[in-house]
Amino acid sequence: MFVSDCLGVNGAGHLTIGGCDTLDLAAQYGTPLYVVDETQLRQNCRAYVRSLAHFYGGNGLALFASKAFCCKEVIRIMAQEGMGLEVCSGGELVTALSVGFPVERIYFHGNNKTPAELEMAVRHDVGHVVADNLEELRRLDAEAVRQGKRVKILLRVKPGIDAHTHNFIRTGQIDSKFGFALETGEAMAAAKAAAASANLELCGVHCHIGSQIFDVSPFELAAEVMFGFMAQIKAECGVELRELDLGGGFGVQYDQSDTPRPYAEYMEAVAKTLAAKAEEHGLAIPFILLEPGRSIPASAGITLYTVGAVKEIPGVRRYVLTDGGMNDNPRYILYGAHYTVLNAGRAGEEAGETYTIAGRCCETGDLIQEYTKVQPTQTGDVLAVLATGAYNYSMSLNYNRIPRPPVVMVREGEARVIIKAETFEDICRNDM
Ligand code: LLP
Repeated sequence: MFVSDCLGVNGAGHLTIGGCDTLDLAAQYGTPLYVVDETQLRQNCRAYVRSLAHFYGGNGLALFASKAFCCKEVIRIMAQEGMGLEVCSGGELVTALSVGFPVERIYFHGNNKTPAELEMAVRHDVGHVVADNLEELRRLDAEAVRQGKRVKILLRVKPGIDAHTHNFIRTGQIDSKFGFALETGEAMAAAKAAAASANLELCGVHCHIGSQIFDVSPFELAAEVMFGFMAQIKAECGVELRELDLGGGFGVQYDQSDTPRPYAEYMEAVAKTLAAKAEEHGLAIPFILLEPGRSIPASAGITLYTVGAVKEIPGVRRYVLTDGGMNDNPRYILYGAHYTVLNAGRAGEEAGETYTIAGRCCETGDLIQEYTKVQPTQTGDVLAVLATGAYNYSMSLNYNRIPRPPVVMVREGEARVIIKAETFEDICRNDM
């Protein structure tokens, strides 16, 4: 029934997370409330670390794509779990540096890093910069010269794979703002420019083929295409690259229609592909990087809301009006994302009623889920939306000047605040 191991139902029929009663959490911290289970978060990291150890003999590193959930405590946990970190902005980098995340394990992404961000990355000796375009390569080279440093880089490559169709296709020319195209020769031109630079050390190549992917085959194909490109670089530039970053994109379960595969299955398939390609090209298997974002925190998080009213429009539909909405979870209005919604106080009962769960913004589309099955619900009840640990807090907004909710981390029955609630003072802080 549930989309995560950290959830349960206690004797009172209430939803629990990490051994805490969600109604108690709502009463203690107020709603809306983000709740994250530390044990689940750590377990999700370990699945990657273990898999890399098993299939690559530890010759790899899983980078948490911090955009999925960037805050100090989450980054501290990533450091403790032996993860690397993918950042794609000065803000994410500063968060990581502020908790002493090991810089050598940070990879700096972004399709248009500002001059200030490049300056920061070089000054702080960030492990690798992932270069997106020729102009950026030139700017990074100049910055490295200016600071008298040699910067390790990867090149972001578009392998020409569309992972979003069920029968994925190779496209001749990919329409994406990210990275260097293989087909046009742009990626090879970038490799040659990087290899010729005294201040840039070309370590490897990177690709990221999409997000919320369940099929294994697009990942296998990406590995094949990318390894082929590495062999071509060796042939044309005489440089044997040591690192291959295969990006993130592993799907998670939001409701019963999602059927993610165990990561080990994906890892095994990709490891086999790489072994075959290595033999074919007479190359060693490179150091493998993965960039899971969503699949690290998604299943560890839920959001709690209090129902203000149930509005029945006869012959039309029943709205449940919550005290949150698109501000704390913009994924429905952006993508029509599906979620599982429960009445937290009646979690053990059948979800037999159909409701549309709405927020409180001045926006008709401010919905969390439409026509979804929930237990009978009335004013004052607490609703739980499951699997909101990824891209919810990190994409939250202040529309209507609504302050962001706090984030509470739970662990074996104990709870602590890891991000304080925003206040009205915070909302006005920068106004003159
Ligand atoms: N690496 C790179 C370079 C990326 O651009 C991303 C995600 C990831 C790794 C992590 O991908 P994941 O494992 O989370 O699929 N806001 C959207 C997702 C946008 C993903 C952007 N890039 C959502 O809420 O579904």
